[in-house]
Amino acid sequence: MRNLFLLICLCCFSCYLSARSILISTPKTSLLLSAPVDGELKFVYYGAKLSEVDVHTMGETEKSKLLAYPVYGLNCPSEAALAVKHSDGNMTLQLKVVKVDVLQQNKAELTTILLKDKVYPFYVKMCYKAYQDVDMIEIWSEISHQEKNAVVLNQFASAYLPVRRGNVWLSHLYGAWANEGRLVQEPLEPGMKVIKNKDGVRNSHTAHAEVMFSLDGQPQENAGRVIGAALCYSGNYKLRIDTDESDYHHFYAGINEDNSIYSLKKNELFRTPELALTYSDEGLSGTSRNFHRWARLHKLANGTKLRKILLNSWEGVYFGINEERMNQMMTDIASMGGELFVMDDGWFGDKYPRRTDKTSLGDWVVDKRKLPSGIEGLIDAAHQRGIKFGIWIEPEMANTRSELYEKHPDWVLKAPERELVLGRGGTQVVLDLTNPEVQDFIFHIVDNLMAKHPDINYIKWDANMSIMNHGSNYLNKEEQSDLYIAYHRGFESICQRIRLKYPDLTIQACAQGGGRANYGVLPYFDEFWVSDNTDALQRIYMQWGTSYFFPAIAMASHISAAPNHQTFRTIPLKYRIDVAMSGRLGMEIQPKDMTDEEKELCRKAIAEYKEIRPVVQLGDIYRLVSPYDKLGVASLMYTSPEKDKAVFYWWKLEHFYNQHLPRVKMAGLAPNAEYRICELNRIDKQPLDFEGKIFSGAYLMANGLELPANHLVDRNKKNDYSSRVLYLEKVK
Ligand code: GLA
Repeated sequence: MRNLFLLICLCCFSCYLSARSILISTPKTSLLLSAPVDGELKFVYYGAKLSEVDVHTMGETEKSKLLAYPVYGLNCPSEAALAVKHSDGNMTLQLKVVKVDVLQQNKAELTTILLKDKVYPFYVKMCYKAYQDVDMIEIWSEISHQEKNAVVLNQFASAYLPVRRGNVWLSHLYGAWANEGRLVQEPLEPGMKVIKNKDGVRNSHTAHAEVMFSLDGQPQENAGRVIGAALCYSGNYKLRIDTDESDYHHFYAGINEDNSIYSLKKNELFRTPELALTYSDEGLSGTSRNFHRWARLHKLANGTKLRKILLNSWEGVYFGINEERMNQMMTDIASMGGELFVMDDGWFGDKYPRRTDKTSLGDWVVDKRKLPSGIEGLIDAAHQRGIKFGIWIEPEMANTRSELYEKHPDWVLKAPERELVLGRGGTQVVLDLTNPEVQDFIFHIVDNLMAKHPDINYIKWDANMSIMNHGSNYLNKEEQSDLYIAYHRGFESICQRIRLKYPDLTIQACAQGGGRANYGVLPYFDEFWVSDNTDALQRIYMQWGTSYFFPAIAMASHISAAPNHQTFRTIPLKYRIDVAMSGRLGMEIQPKDMTDEEKELCRKAIAEYKEIRPVVQLGDIYRLVSPYDKLGVASLMYTSPEKDKAVFYWWKLEHFYNQHLPRVKMAGLAPNAEYRICELNRIDKQPLDFEGKIFSGAYLMANGLELPANHLVDRNKKNDYSSRVLYLEKVK
């Protein structure tokens, strides 16, 4: 074993320095561990990339006391990553390093460190996947044993990271339905901070499994050292940050073990979900850029393929789907330059037609009363108009009023001896995804649709209910506490089958709005619905928070009606457009109700969005002024990786006469380059003073541009909203 270490050490500095030090690196970051054979695996360092000399000296001087994966049982009064009960009842673990392996993968280096209990045939393999083209290290553990009987896993975090105390601040997201992705920033104080989810099905309405730690005091967008962490899991999670009497904040992330104690059989492998770690010394926005790049290149389905501009039927007609309305909506979106039409809820059900949310989930047959020419008729109509066609489904669910439920009442999650607790519409139930037959049924919902209609281009996959009934007919009585985990294994296996067969299909993860914005689902989904709340003003706050971890290409953002259907706020179309254009642009409105002038504005916006789409969807984000700072404006920009193009957004958040709004400095430009400024979606009678003018990147980043607080429009068109979108193109 020693020889192997030495050999690798000689050939590959980047992975090994000595038999003890394990260096795991990305282009700009390093994780340093100490892993002596027969000794304990210790954490030494995580942060900016270490030089050879530093690694060498640290190997001699930094005597870490911190286990890289703390286990419970022997002298550990603190929190543990892993706690088990062996088959003989022993509650302790003591893990020693057995061996270290390094595997070169496509664009990544996988370091695995095998640990074994000193006494029991109990193993943990720690896995560290370091990307070589982006600053991200994914960490997870693989737990197995060869004990006679099952070992009970009481706690099973994916990873642990100590963060050195100082003035460390935590940024994370909280919210609720229609108010997802709200940013909260707080200093870490003694005690335990827990961020968790227990929904069972969706996991990002009320909290998020991603966090950032600002290491240099109050968080700044474009300066300071920041560690970002994202747990890549679609189910219940728990993030713990324990600030105890030591010099560290102890961060643990993993599956939420509440009501999920797991009984691990002999030779079974329990793989925890990845915790993705990143680090940037360019502030919160720098950390976001790392997440976004990693998402596009490695995590998000079709992450580098530009998304289409669509019209979704939901807020336009709700359940009132019929052929005439669908054809009219398709005509309208095509005439405005849109590329895709998505028929939302309400198109299905035979015995029980889907007229409200009380029936039909599970009966995925077209309602011929509403759509006599079927889906094929709609697809033909879409093609005649030169656009693509997409469709809504909610495959994990049923209504008790459905043919599916009548046929398979045993397919739904239900606690034995208990009445069903029902969800949306008073009749919704969740299917038992632990059951392979149900998994097969769900796979075939998509497969049948696609087999019959290979030209379906887009699927909106919804999930509108939590697990409210803890009970599975499929799992045996010893396995009932596996339900939450088994559900998500089932979900993932269905998604894998679908993706294997339909890699190019665009699939949106919707879950009653933003319930599925997480990196557990995104490998199988191209985008997610940020929120059922389409109010442009509130969206600024929600999309701001969401952009901490997720790229614009994945954030579906739609222009909707005024007054808004959720907040009843009346916001002018220009502002609604300017907000929607900062994400994956779409429309969710009845175009029939729009004036010709409004349609023209949208037509122009869609054409301009097509121009800037690569910068927005594939570019680098720089958040400039936060809406949460309450300065009266919010502003952000995207720059192309080559820094030859940029799009700048500015939204006024409140309106007072003679209010002093800040002048917003830009970021992310090349200081020596020169850029021509062009306003998009212009409604003013006169162009801005700097329209078509050229500025250096240095000037724009030091001073920004003075933006008028109001629009220059006819008096009868004046209102209290104001927003600007500027396109910057490098001329030299
Ligand atoms: C959920 C989604 C909405 C819409 C409805 C349809 O609430 O979030 O966008 O699709 O379901 O019932």
